[in-house]
Amino acid sequence: MATTAAIEPGISFALTEEQRALRELAHEFAEKEIRPKAAEYDEHQIHPADVIAKAHEVGLMNPHLPEELGGAGLGALEGALIGEELCWGCSGIGTSIVANILGALPVLLAGTDEQQREWVPPLLEEPILCSFGLTEPNAGSDVSGIQTTAVRMGDEYVINGSKMFITNAGQAAWLTVFASTDKDAGHRGLTAFVVPTDADGVTIEKHLDKMGQRATDTSAIAFQDVQVPAANRLGEEGEGFKIAMRTLDHTRPGTASGAVGVARAAFEHAVEYARERVQFGQPIAMNQGVNFLIADMAAEIEAARLLCWQAAWMLDQGERATLQSSYAKRFAADTAMKVTTDAVQVFGGYGYIKEFPVEKLMRDAKLFQIYEGTSQIQRLVIAREIFLPRGD
Ligand code: CAA
Repeated sequence: MATTAAIEPGISFALTEEQRALRELAHEFAEKEIRPKAAEYDEHQIHPADVIAKAHEVGLMNPHLPEELGGAGLGALEGALIGEELCWGCSGIGTSIVANILGALPVLLAGTDEQQREWVPPLLEEPILCSFGLTEPNAGSDVSGIQTTAVRMGDEYVINGSKMFITNAGQAAWLTVFASTDKDAGHRGLTAFVVPTDADGVTIEKHLDKMGQRATDTSAIAFQDVQVPAANRLGEEGEGFKIAMRTLDHTRPGTASGAVGVARAAFEHAVEYARERVQFGQPIAMNQGVNFLIADMAAEIEAARLLCWQAAWMLDQGERATLQSSYAKRFAADTAMKVTTDAVQVFGGYGYIKEFPVEKLMRDAKLFQIYEGTSQIQRLVIAREIFLPRGD
């Protein structure tokens, strides 16, 4: 008698045919369109407008935008698959392509139907970029310390302040800006707005010269008496902090998957090099010191990917995934840093020079431990979820 036929599997690591095809599409794109440009775009900090346009054309941009608004309506898991492959190609170019999710999610999570119809469909029609304006010169990890203000004047708000380290800001058509509408209320006084970058008083102050992920535009942006219609406010006054936190819960698994892509690229280069490089009369892969490094890389990459998939899967089930998103982001970012550092070690002196690819990967990996919440902030979130779990 069959005893297992009626049992529904509670868990599965198998991707659907559509997910496998999507991953293959993203991988081929990374191999043909991203990798050949990675070194040059990194060296000269070239904004990859051409690659972004192609990614848009083949459907690798904005996969998460809902079907009702004309999008593909794909989930966080599909976003993770795309993120890993594109960042395997180059995380500077990959981040430029996938970062629209950060800008658009506040509109999707908190915008009215009308606001969504205004801001989302244009992202599907053209390769338009949007950004997430949260971080400030004096408010990075401490979001409640935001100093940008938005003052209500009739049917408008007047925004003053500045934002720092904003991905794609120098190229974006609009950004979601988090500003204080009530200075005395701390995090409960923050409010989110959509601000077009061509509004009077918006200035890109500086394109920042970064250590890694140099193909991504990262800019400082200033707002001087910028008038935005009250209709651009997302949610109610005072809801901005929670909109930002919910956005980050959703985006961290995708970003973490980018870190997995960088780690996997470094691992593959290290394996190939260890097979070819002969010292003491044999490939260095035969040395236990080297193959232990490689074995740890392989296991940690696999573990990081599983954490990303778990967090993404939870989000796709409509569950709150604050804890799992921070597990994924913390572990994948730290794994990317360790794996790329060890890959440089496997390459020895060659690993330290720009002619070989692992030097760039090590520089690129560092940013994953910093943006979208540092590895220390992820630990803080994890510890709070353990000791002070929230009910919402
Ligand atoms: N979802 C919903 N609500 C949440 C939440 C979540 N994930 N996390 C916290 N909240 C709620 C809390 O329940 C609390 O609610 P009440 O007001 O009702 O009590 C409120 O928000 C405040 O929460 P905390 O007390 O935990 O807030 P805090 O000031 O101590 O800060 C923090 C929490 C986790 C440190 C937060 O400030 C944080 O995430 N910092 C990191 C910011 C970050 O990731 N920045 C990166 C910017 S994105 C980027 O990198 C740009 C780019 O372009 C790549």
